[in-house]
Amino acid sequence: MKIFVPPIKSQGIKTKLVEWISSNVKEISYDRWVEPFMGTGVVAFNVRPKKALLCDSNPHLINFYKAIQNKEITSIIVKNFLKQEGQKLLETEGKHYYAVRERFNEFGNPLDFLFLSRSCFNGMMRFNKKGGFNVPFCKKPNRFAQALVTKITNQVENISQIIEHGDYEFKQQDFNQTLLELKSSDFIYSDPPYIGRHVDYFDSWSEEEEIILKNGLDKSQCKFILSTWLSNKYRTNEYVFSVWKNSYIATREHFYHVGGRETNRNAVYEALLSNIMLKDSISNSEMNSRIKSNKSQLTSKLKVISHPEQLLFKFEDKSLANNLYK
Ligand SMILES: C[S@@+](CC[C@H](N)C(=O)[O-])C[C@H]1O[C@@H](n2cnc3c(N)ncnc32)[C@H](O)[C@@H]1O
Repeated sequence: MKIFVPPIKSQGIKTKLVEWISSNVKEISYDRWVEPFMGTGVVAFNVRPKKALLCDSNPHLINFYKAIQNKEITSIIVKNFLKQEGQKLLETEGKHYYAVRERFNEFGNPLDFLFLSRSCFNGMMRFNKKGGFNVPFCKKPNRFAQALVTKITNQVENISQIIEHGDYEFKQQDFNQTLLELKSSDFIYSDPPYIGRHVDYFDSWSEEEEIILKNGLDKSQCKFILSTWLSNKYRTNEYVFSVWKNSYIATREHFYHVGGRETNRNAVYEALLSNIMLKDSISNSEMNSRIKSNKSQLTSKLKVISHPEQLLFKFEDKSLANNLYK
């Protein structure tokens, strides 16, 4: 499957899970695809439903995609803008980043948002208490060299085409409002912030909100998939077995690699929770007993590894590294 990567980056982006999610929704019929937490939109843009309602509380994400939809932003405009601003970045040895950040925090221009998203530290998206973007510069004054500008321009072009060919509505609103707008023939892909992971002006999440979301989804009678995490080396996500106790669960292993040794691979289990049976899902109670009896938490054969190049390079036994992909 060719994955379309959106031009905007964020730490919660589900690019690595897109193929898995898509394969689980292929057979499901629905009238409209709804995301109360669209983020970068990578899931919807790859599932490519005919009709979609894509919402987020962060106005900058929604403004960006609305600007693409109404052609205020096109690939040509992006190319010229990044070339021009990239040149200033280079000439000022990076200081221009902070001028753009200040300008963005005053006027909220979607092109400035794109510039910051692609030149900030680690492609992070973080806003301070007043709602100002506050991620520092990636410290590469030549960030917008021709190759990257071309890459971003192509990403904008691909996403414009996808939006143009679909019947898509983008709305800046809280998930509570999106829940009120659901029809039972909708399919919901829900990817809320992980509880307790990070707190930011547009991105925080509490137990109370998790319960409201669960009750809202139940009331809507829509089919849904919710993305969350099941466990890591240290903890299990107890909400999976309390709030979502009636769901089916499919998991996939994701390795975070610390240092070069095979023993330092830490597994995280990503989970899809649903009110319908998924391709690899098992019941919530079965997963609970697997965890209690220390059996495998894996329901899907696929594995994802962060930084695979690094892993291959550092493994003494390359066949071991290669086996991880199977
Ligand atoms: C984990 S991210 C979604 C990532 C997305 N699936 C992707 O792949 O890019 C969670 C999103 O929820 C949004 N969000 C946080 N609180 C919200 C709320 N109360 N209502 C609606 N959206 C919210 C954040 O702005 C963020 O974009």
